[in-house]
Amino acid sequence: MESEKETDEKQNPVGIFDSGVGGISVVREIIRILPSEDLYVFGDSANAPYGVRPLKEVRELTLMHVERMIRERAVKAVVVACNTATSAAIAALRKRYASIPMIGIEPALKPAALFKQGGKVLVLATEMTIREEKYHELAKRFSDRAELIPLPAPEIVTLVEDGKQDSAEMDAYLADLFAPYEKAGIDAVVLGCTHFPFAADAIRRYWGKDVRIFDGAEGTARELKRRLTKNDLRNPSEGRGKIILENSGGEEKIRLSERLLGL
Ligand code: DGL
Repeated sequence: MESEKETDEKQNPVGIFDSGVGGISVVREIIRILPSEDLYVFGDSANAPYGVRPLKEVRELTLMHVERMIRERAVKAVVVACNTATSAAIAALRKRYASIPMIGIEPALKPAALFKQGGKVLVLATEMTIREEKYHELAKRFSDRAELIPLPAPEIVTLVEDGKQDSAEMDAYLADLFAPYEKAGIDAVVLGCTHFPFAADAIRRYWGKDVRIFDGAEGTARELKRRLTKNDLRNPSEGRGKIILENSGGEEKIRLSERLLGL
């Protein structure tokens, strides 16, 4: 009986949560690295952006949605594919669900700081991510390697949520946002919010090809693979996994998520 139960559990989906459609940038990598896993993806676009909300609210919303995923979808592991929700709630989630692997995402400061000794790194994230303890602890570890310049960019979230990730409005916003920084002075840009990889083309257009861009999606997908393997939870099936996309913002956000995923 025991082994049957284990097989069932292995076939359960991985739950992926974001404040909106941004989590799709992590889903893309998870599909690439773990193609056989079933995924249940939930975006809370009705309540996005999270990054400008009080910490307590973001924590409560995240706990509520993850609790529902576990109860209704029997997810075998959870990826909080949102830097903001991770900084607000990952500790509480791990405490509450000690037996379910909980994978968070954090800004990819490490590869960006190690890439060039003494480099200047612009760290784009939400206001909350930059304000919270988790970011400060991470930044402290790499501050002797590179100059890390945190920069909140809330409007990128709104533009991506509106499907304007590659638009004249995005270009104009980025031009204003980056204007105080000298083009020649920046070596790397960290996309510390899961919405931002969808604006990567526009960001690259501004900075040009000599500025390296880093994001945490691949690292998070690899961490999920490691944790599923360690807990013997990998789906043994060889076919492609099923992807269920849901969003509190309704059909329009689900269609946008599909487009962002390239479906
Ligand atoms: N996608 C979220 C992140 O990675 C934040 C977007 C929001 O402000 O809702 O931080």
